[in-house]
Amino acid sequence: MSESTPHGLAIFAQRVTDAVAAALQLPADQIQLERPRNEEHGEFAMPCFRFAKVQKCNPAELAGRLVSDLNIADVTASNIGPFLNFRIDDLALATQMAADARREDFGKGLSSERTLVEYSSPNIAKPMHIGHLRTTVIGAALARIFEFLGHDVVRINHIGDWGSQFGKLLAAWRRWGSDEKLEAEPIAHLLELYVRYHAEEKTDPSLDAAAKDEFLALESGEENDARRDWKHFTELSLGEFKTTFERLDARFDLIRGESWYEDKLEDLVQWLDAAGVLEWNDGAIIVDLESEGISTPCLVKTSRGTTLYATRDLAAAKSRWDEFHFDRCLYVVGAEQSLHFKQFKAVLKRCGTDWWNRIEHIPFGLVRFTEGKLSTREGRVLSLQDVLDRAVELAREIVEAKNPDHVDKDWVAEQVGIGAVVFHDLKHQRQKDVVFNWNEVLSFEGDTGPYLQYTHARCCSILRKADRQITDVDPALLADARDLWVALGRFPAAVREAAEKREPMLLAQTLLKIAAAGNSFYREKRVLGNDDPVLENARLAAIDGLRNTLAHGLMLLGVPTPEEM
Ligand code: ARG
Repeated sequence: MSESTPHGLAIFAQRVTDAVAAALQLPADQIQLERPRNEEHGEFAMPCFRFAKVQKCNPAELAGRLVSDLNIADVTASNIGPFLNFRIDDLALATQMAADARREDFGKGLSSERTLVEYSSPNIAKPMHIGHLRTTVIGAALARIFEFLGHDVVRINHIGDWGSQFGKLLAAWRRWGSDEKLEAEPIAHLLELYVRYHAEEKTDPSLDAAAKDEFLALESGEENDARRDWKHFTELSLGEFKTTFERLDARFDLIRGESWYEDKLEDLVQWLDAAGVLEWNDGAIIVDLESEGISTPCLVKTSRGTTLYATRDLAAAKSRWDEFHFDRCLYVVGAEQSLHFKQFKAVLKRCGTDWWNRIEHIPFGLVRFTEGKLSTREGRVLSLQDVLDRAVELAREIVEAKNPDHVDKDWVAEQVGIGAVVFHDLKHQRQKDVVFNWNEVLSFEGDTGPYLQYTHARCCSILRKADRQITDVDPALLADARDLWVALGRFPAAVREAAEKREPMLLAQTLLKIAAAGNSFYREKRVLGNDDPVLENARLAAIDGLRNTLAHGLMLLGVPTPEEM
């Protein structure tokens, strides 16, 4: 996907691909390497069926012939039946990786494409909930990954700050609002008002009329009470969200709420009209999508003349295209909104744009809590803030037990608690539902964030204790660390694959393999105090490569990397 200096195993993969392509007299892009099912067989594999078919010969025979023909520097080819396997020679692998893994730009790319990532996008006047955790964590990770590969990334937060529900909120505020409560706990109070509105609406029809008037006043664009209060609610909500964004290292180039597109909606409707896609249906304006295989039409304006969520998304997409001419625009939004994205892409397609297909919905599954007192608190929905606080509280207990002398336990607890929640989210396939079990999330053993953080901190501690400069590493002394080098060597490809598939899990799983190999390395090989300063120097280089790669990988995922824990 991106131009880059090959790093890690990619260098050897390239050689294998070129040699096989030459032997088969095919262009290199026809050759796809796989991973051998059994790691013992080597680092790359290639089934011969497809090529044997073309050459009208037996696949096993072709494999045998290729093995005797191929001559690849630093790589040994072998065959098992119709499969070719390639194994990188120990010394070449150690030489390459001992240098690569310690480089500041290990795994980075040089793409110059422009990638927009829209993520998080909570609704004002309501607490961010656990679903917003997923979009925030996945979106922030994807943005960092694309940036690492060189992309010009624009991070956008499409705050939900517009729509008729704000008429209801304003009507409720007029009747029952309290300045003191709003000051003390803004979102909690606004939520309370919203809930009360819905409870009383059923018995009090005047509320509905009041809500409509408020929204009309808001939509008028005039500087009236409705607008002033709505602005105030927006600011207060964003103030509260900011803490959560910071805790999750979610940064945004543009915090642009739906309301930002308000003055672009009329132009948008005209643009749709000029494209000839609008139809009038009972006073409402729609775009029929039957021709695109979607039976539900896209509603652009209600019969009352108000615009909708979809109208604002169309305006946002158009405005982003005009402003950025993006190569891709990713929307990290829950799977339950899939139809909405299908519809609005189909509208853009029907309008004849040549960029509609650069818009991509990146859906994800739900979070489910296992039984326990933390699934809800006092009957209300668990907010994202509650989850993070609880994770940090639990992490504090663990840190207290493990390292009672640590100088800054609160700080480490924050990093470990947040890291645990973030990693737990990202280690799962994005589209699958995630089951949230506190013990599992925070465990220091197993496939967890704290385990990775701990491995990283362990490397830092070894390097700290060694307290020496690493110089002139002799790779021959590291040729016995094959598993570690292979695991580290897969890091650059994992970053690329995570970007291509929009799947941070691939990077998360690669980091777990790296940590496992790293842990075996320092368990089996004495790094410090082995009476051989030359060997110590070399092994410290391996530890430093491990530290460097974990630090970059965890940074990409948004897992903090304390040096001591
Ligand atoms: N505010 C919406 C929610 O919290 C998500 C917005 C998603 N982004 C979009 N462009 N529609 O459910």
